[in-house]
Amino acid sequence: MSNRQIVVRELPQGPLQEHHFELRQAARPQPEPGQVLTRTVLLSLDPANRAWMQGATYRAPVLPGEVMSGFTLAEVVESTDPRFEAGQIVECENGWQEFACQPADALTPVRRRTALPHHMSVLGLTGLTAYFGLLEVGRPRPGETVLVSAAAGATGSVAGQIARIAGCRVVGIAGSDEKCAWLTGELGFHAAINYKTDKVSRAIKEHCPAGVDVFFDNTGGEILEASLFRMNQGGRVVCCGAVSQYDTNNPAPGPRGVPGLIITKRLRMEGFIVMDFFHQREAAEAQLAGWLEADQLVAREDILDGLECAPQGLIGLLAGHNIGKRLVRVGPEPAKA
Ligand SMILES: NC(=O)c1ccc[n+]([C@@H]2O[C@H](COP(=O)([O-])OP(=O)(O)OC[C@H]3O[C@@H](n4cnc5c(N)ncnc54)[C@H](OP(=O)(O)O)[C@@H]3O)[C@@H](O)[C@H]2O)c1
Repeated sequence: MSNRQIVVRELPQGPLQEHHFELRQAARPQPEPGQVLTRTVLLSLDPANRAWMQGATYRAPVLPGEVMSGFTLAEVVESTDPRFEAGQIVECENGWQEFACQPADALTPVRRRTALPHHMSVLGLTGLTAYFGLLEVGRPRPGETVLVSAAAGATGSVAGQIARIAGCRVVGIAGSDEKCAWLTGELGFHAAINYKTDKVSRAIKEHCPAGVDVFFDNTGGEILEASLFRMNQGGRVVCCGAVSQYDTNNPAPGPRGVPGLIITKRLRMEGFIVMDFFHQREAAEAQLAGWLEADQLVAREDILDGLECAPQGLIGLLAGHNIGKRLVRVGPEPAKA
């Protein structure tokens, strides 16, 4: 029995392209004692996938010849561990392939509350990143102004909505008029800035007349630099990601104004990785699920069909082709999940 896989053919020296990957047929693996065989149902596409190809990040780098890494939701096919049984849905890192064997400890059971794709967007790592980044790192107070970059993407769209729920004025930065209209329409942001057509610095001044108290930054680069100059005294910069610097071998040097602005404005600029907060995961998931059920939070997924879409899907994600959480449906959902 076979297992389709997408393997890294070579590491990109510049922008990611399809020829950096190849589709391969392998044999379906057999679980050894302590392992679980799972079938990938949904694959998450994340800007971090490209950052992992730049070298070591918070995890090991992706290397040529390996199956491309990626977060997945998968169905248990065969388990040698009593904690898991066939048909169960688990969160795991199968990577870009149809089947994988993992040690049982590497799997997290999914407590199904709603449509499966929502468990990879609002209720998955994405929603948790937005939740912990905004509330634990940014710590917004009602009435404050929260600015969010890559605001129409998976993490930004949830972070902005949580800030709105927290009683803040929320301003998003995104790469098209369509995205900006979605932010100020369905998502209830107070204003949105198209960074491709507006002068960002001037637009932040216009839409954040009282300055910026919390900047939830997904992009780094020029947007981070422009935002730093608009921060209020005592402001918090949540360093969630730097997507503007991933698809290159020559990331730009840091923004102007560091450390001068940080000192004079008494800013706190803090990075985090979502897993840092996993001890609080259950409560956060329950809160996010509550908001979703009460229609306070909109979950939007952008789902591509078929494993072979993954390379083009990741390239498109880095170019901003997505609205909301980009996923690949690798296989059908199990009937009984
Ligand atoms: N710290 C953590 O634990 C953690 C966890 C998950 C994700 N993250 C980070 O969160 C950020 C967002 O990730 P995501 O999964 O939610 O992806 P996403 O926002 O759904 O997709 C990436 C978006 O980035 C924008 N973008 C691409 N190049 C850009 C550039 N040069 N300047 C400005 N915007 C650009 C694009 O939208 P536009 O059309 O607006 O350009 C694109 O849609 C990433 O930096 C990621 O690394 C961090």
